[in-house]
Amino acid sequence: MSQNNDIDAAIGGTWSKHTLVVYGQGTLPSTGTYDANKLEEKAREVTKGNQGNGSSFTCAAAFLYTFGSAGLSSTDRANRKAIDRWRIIPRMLRDASTRSLDTTIFGVKYKAPVFVAPVGVQSILHPDGELASAAAGANVGIPIIMSTASSYTIEQVATANGNGQRWYQLYWPVNKEVTVSLLQRAKKAGFTTLVVTLDTMVLGWRPHDLDTAYLPFFAGVGTAVGISDPAFMAVQGLEPITEPRRKYPLDMEAHRQLLKAGDREALLESELGKAWIGQTTSGVFKTWEDLTHLRENWEGPIVLKGIQCVEDARLAIGAGMDGIVVSNHGGRQVDGAIPSFVALEQVCGDAKIREAQEAGKFTVLFDSGIRTGSDVIKALAMGAQGVLVARPMMYGLAIAGQKGVEDVFRGLLAETEITLGLSGYKSVADVWGKRDEVLQRLDWLA
Ligand SMILES: Cc1cc2nc3c(=O)[nH]c(=O)nc-3n(C[C@H](O)[C@H](O)[C@H](O)COP(=O)(O)O)c2cc1C
Repeated sequence: MSQNNDIDAAIGGTWSKHTLVVYGQGTLPSTGTYDANKLEEKAREVTKGNQGNGSSFTCAAAFLYTFGSAGLSSTDRANRKAIDRWRIIPRMLRDASTRSLDTTIFGVKYKAPVFVAPVGVQSILHPDGELASAAAGANVGIPIIMSTASSYTIEQVATANGNGQRWYQLYWPVNKEVTVSLLQRAKKAGFTTLVVTLDTMVLGWRPHDLDTAYLPFFAGVGTAVGISDPAFMAVQGLEPITEPRRKYPLDMEAHRQLLKAGDREALLESELGKAWIGQTTSGVFKTWEDLTHLRENWEGPIVLKGIQCVEDARLAIGAGMDGIVVSNHGGRQVDGAIPSFVALEQVCGDAKIREAQEAGKFTVLFDSGIRTGSDVIKALAMGAQGVLVARPMMYGLAIAGQKGVEDVFRGLLAETEITLGLSGYKSVADVWGKRDEVLQRLDWLA
């Protein structure tokens, strides 16, 4: 047991020390809360109050775009339930005085197995959008995954992320030249791993957005990666725009009025937005064979995002992929799909996949429903080697910009490390893949 009276050391972990900042210095969270449920409510509240260009509808619709899921949101709810019914069994009288969340993925050391998830169009909730979350990731010390649907360019996000660790998420363009151009830009800008999102070949049926006719791309938001790309712009017969216009708050109705009035800038934004969607969420479905092209054009690790069953995970191994993100896009694509945590249980329960993980040949990450430190530990115990967090990050961004995102992740990581220790463990390795030792399933809770 550690013997000291130093409160700093007594906290016993890197991330846990955040509690000292709070209790010791009386520093309140910039978001107003560390409670994930309250965070969502707070974000709903602040976006209601934001009038936009005279319309309270604009930011409320932006909130709904983030909060909303496909169909009746049944998969989104099931995502939470599935995590909730697994419970941690805390163990006593074990030395967890010194704890660490350090982990290694693809030979690179990370300070925690937690990623800022790829989220597009972040500037609908805050003018700094992805620049803020990229800077927050670097400040906190966790990796970001930049989205192809970003409101800022690859180069701008890389600059904002500075010396931070960054991966690039690809919405896979129809056009091969555009694909190669994006990959080259990402590589040059210091993105080390490619995450290819597979579950968005066509946009899901999202009543929240359909009811408000809200799709930011059509108003030129979420197109920055495209309009700054020489190959994409060459197809349009235009020069790349390296400093995309800031558009906040995004007022879809005002944009439509401009279109009606024949405003040239609005017309161009719309046309480019449609062309970008036509490249990236095109309705043209790729197949397993198409992965060869990505492999030939990307030197680093490739991770497939959106895998939901053992067979597809095995196909990913067969296709020479380095990893997967078990994800159902937060229930935003197929309503009625199985909860992502159930998929994780099945994928990591497969002997062949487990063997590949243990041999260091295959990495399984997880998202869709992670809200607390306990959730992180449950996912690790189930066999995930890391988790992605999306909506809470967006809520932090909406409430307090970069600082809000930082507080969301500092809180989550402190909670993870504290819960790890209180459960009797001191490292990621202590819990990783030890489902039957660390967790118990309680079906009556579902
Ligand atoms: C507003 C919003 C935008 C998103 N944009 C992207 C994206 O551009 N690329 C992507 O791969 N996933 C995107 N996602 C999905 C997230 O990366 C993640 O898979 C999902 O939200 C599940 O995590 P959560 O429960 O933490 O929200 C988006 C999610 C939200 C809420």
